[in-house]
Amino acid sequence: MNWIFTDRGTALADMTIEQCKIIELPKISDPRGNLTFIEGIRNVPFAIKRTYWIYDVPGGEVRGGHSYKTLHELIIAVSGSFDVVVDDGSNKKVFSLNRSYYGLYVPSMIWRGLENFSTNSLCLILASDVYSEADYIRNYGEFLSGKEKA
Ligand code: TYD
Repeated sequence: MNWIFTDRGTALADMTIEQCKIIELPKISDPRGNLTFIEGIRNVPFAIKRTYWIYDVPGGEVRGGHSYKTLHELIIAVSGSFDVVVDDGSNKKVFSLNRSYYGLYVPSMIWRGLENFSTNSLCLILASDVYSEADYIRNYGEFLSGKEKA
């Protein structure tokens, strides 16, 4: 697979939903229980600088609703299921995640929403950088303006 590497500070406004990809993670099947692991750079196209997770999502709630200027993420349904709607300003695509050994890679400058969380679902997110509110675009109009400049 050809990864797209970007440095921090490089806003790739021309990213499209075609760059959002399901990544199959290593799975060590074992009668004692299966094991999956992730190594930054090797299994995901970035060095992992932060991990966070979303849980206890009440039925019908939606998370996300923003894009990042430079951040890349891998989104995994470690438990349960949910949908990730990705949007590049021109096209949208829905990825339904329901396996703990699949991750959805979402690059910067892609608007995303997470919805349809099943009861007790656990959404694990690996991020290419530490938290920075300055890297968020939370206004959809502003996101579209950024895309037009590409
Ligand atoms: P946000 O990224 O908007 O959540 P969502 O998963 O729905 O996109 O983050 C919600 C709040 O949590 C916001 O106030 C920022 C804070 N937050 C941190 O402090 N650190 C983090 O690593 C993340 C992801 C969020």
